Amino acid sequence: MKALLLAGGLGTRLRPLTENLPKPMARVGNRPWLEHLILHYKAQGVSDFVLAVKYYRELIESCFGDGSRLGVRIEYSVEKELLGTAGAVKNAEPFLDGRFIVVNADIIHQVDLASALAFHERRGADVTICLTEVDDPSPYGVVEQNEDGRILRFVEKPKKEEAPSNRINAGIYIMERSVLERIPAGVAVSIEKETFPQWIASGAGVYGHPIGGYWMDMGTKARYRQLHWDLLDGRFPLPTDGEDAGEGIWLGENVRTGQGVLFVPPVMIGDDVTIGDRAVIGPYAVIGSGSRIGSQVRLSRSILWDRCKVHGGAQVNECILGSGMRVGPHILHEAVCNRIREVQRP
Ligand code: GDD
Ligand code: MG
Repeated sequence: MKALLLAGGLGTRLRPLTENLPKPMARVGNRPWLEHLILHYKAQGVSDFVLAVKYYRELIESCFGDGSRLGVRIEYSVEKELLGTAGAVKNAEPFLDGRFIVVNADIIHQVDLASALAFHERRGADVTICLTEVDDPSPYGVVEQNEDGRILRFVEKPKKEEAPSNRINAGIYIMERSVLERIPAGVAVSIEKETFPQWIASGAGVYGHPIGGYWMDMGTKARYRQLHWDLLDGRFPLPTDGEDAGEGIWLGENVRTGQGVLFVPPVMIGDDVTIGDRAVIGPYAVIGSGSRIGSQVRLSRSILWDRCKVHGGAQVNECILGSGMRVGPHILHEAVCNRIREVQRP
């Protein structure tokens, strides 16, 4: 069975981090999220992937190629123009057969695929939408179900007071290829705003299956930050490369620290990182591989991607810095930066 990963969107709400990067390539635990995602589905027995790509697709293709580095097979379904979430699935039709899985590639989750498939099978569903529960369903697709799990209503991003429940579309679907006949080809179609409501109205077997475990859509800066704090707090058990030095400190290979460096957990440091004398790192700090942190830097509640350079004496708090960012000897608070080389005082 193949998994189709939707990875073509613009990632607008995560800008500037996604100004030159597809959102699912944003780093989580020092690796592109898409890599974690593929490995998670591989661990569940999926070995064939189709990536539906468009925006900065060359970055995805050059990172994953044919998938052999990760021990899977990857094909690419490329949109000439963005076709929306259903249009992207329709566009991938030639790559799909029988039953397949669709996943929004920007959701941080772990799913028990076997139990979702068993549910799909038991119900004889055309489509099973995996569901999760949240306090505020308004930024998501919200469902109303009957006792059997059949979805009676699907409303995308309703007003909070109009949401039919707290059960939302987790962005993971199991589908039968036959349903693709009902999606028009070559035009932009939203699976959430058009396709699901149409299928439900026409009596297709659309069911909802609640999944447990951690779930987070990384699509806003607040949620992207939160998922890292959750990762560091152990609420999301992501396999990481770094060695667990104990008590909430993860160190990659070849981390060189000067004299009197203080780690205040939780802290996650990638490979080949240098940290200067008397720097104070943490709490809640992620430092990407190849980064250089100067002496007496204070870095807390911040996420740095790979190859960042922070000048001695700088104070960095509540920041997210993209790959290769440089920070001068400044106080930087609540900045989200990418691309530009030198961050000035805000
Ligand atoms: N190939 C392709 N083409 N991919 C797309 C397109 C497109 O035109 N549009 C969006 N995507 C991809 C995005 O890259 C992302 O990985 C995924 O589809 C979902 O798009 P988002 O833009 O992140 O949607 P959302 O977060 O507002 O809402 C969706 O996800 C929620 C769960 O996280 C909806 O599916 C909601 O119903 C759902 O609750
Ligand atoms: Mg999203």
